[in-house]
Amino acid sequence: MVTAKPRVVSGMRPTGRLHLGHLVGALKNWVALQERYDCFYFVADWHALTSEYADATGLTDYALDNVADWIAAGVDPERSTIFVQSLVPEHAELYLLLSMVVPIPWLERVPTYKEQREQLKEKDLSTLGFLGYPLLQTADIAMYDGRFVPVGEDQVAHLELSREVVRRFNQFYGEVLVEPQPLLTAVPRLPGLDNRKMSKSYGNTIDLTDDDEAVRNKVRQMYTDPKRIRADIPGTVEGNPVFVYHDAFNPDTAEVEELKARYRAGTVGDVEVKTKLARAMNAMLEPMRERRLEVLARPERVREIAVEGSRRARAIAQATMARVRAGVRLRY
Ligand code: TRP
Repeated sequence: MVTAKPRVVSGMRPTGRLHLGHLVGALKNWVALQERYDCFYFVADWHALTSEYADATGLTDYALDNVADWIAAGVDPERSTIFVQSLVPEHAELYLLLSMVVPIPWLERVPTYKEQREQLKEKDLSTLGFLGYPLLQTADIAMYDGRFVPVGEDQVAHLELSREVVRRFNQFYGEVLVEPQPLLTAVPRLPGLDNRKMSKSYGNTIDLTDDDEAVRNKVRQMYTDPKRIRADIPGTVEGNPVFVYHDAFNPDTAEVEELKARYRAGTVGDVEVKTKLARAMNAMLEPMRERRLEVLARPERVREIAVEGSRRARAIAQATMARVRAGVRLRY
């Protein structure tokens, strides 16, 4: 007998090219999870629209570009199901039915809702679509009986809402949907080049598409210990982005420890620390760049993978919706 692996569901919004924050915060974990789980990874294009609705040009290009990066990073389309949310319209139907039972205040009190509306002032986020973001996410997960959702700290509140919504739905309609669990993996939080959160809108990213020279230039400009105006002044290693990156990307731990010791003692210059960092990062990124080029040499293949994966996902979604409709007594 084949024992089914527990299922994992996770999505990424196609709002731009992927950067190191995506790689460290999600992608590496996605790749590792394939060993033990039946993974469903998708392009959350409708989620991207909740904030980018005013200008969605680029969305589909980013979607396929992101999928190419996933594959280059090691997501295996043979083992995992890669799909596009909007190619599985059942997500919208489940979202609609969930919306019947979810009280609006539950959505309003999700912390990211208020935060994002305040932070992204240039966008009008007083829309139903934006309010419904975590509910759509609930539909994404429940659709595949997703037991586990790999999330970072920032997504825990969304998942808590998903669990509450599923419980409420099941109270009305029987045990129709599976309650998801967060799969909290300790992912190091990678700061941006300027030590703020890494984000495209801050212009402080290193992208997976950056070439060798771009990485060297960006690393050279990286924020370090501001107190250290000369190489002979002892510096702080803890929380210093240059060393956070060394820890994340430099496999030569002896070199990293030596640099840290000399940094603390004021016997190493920033140039040396950064040159060694850029070298380690380029060594890590190079195989991914090569695979990305191979993948993108056949763009039709990338599209095929996404379309074929969506077909597979849709078959499951249709079975789930048959069960859901029966639960709601929508039977004709
Ligand atoms: N909210 C997630 C993000 O910002 C994207 C997402 C949409 C997602 N639906 C999901 C993640 C379902 C996990 C499960 O990256």
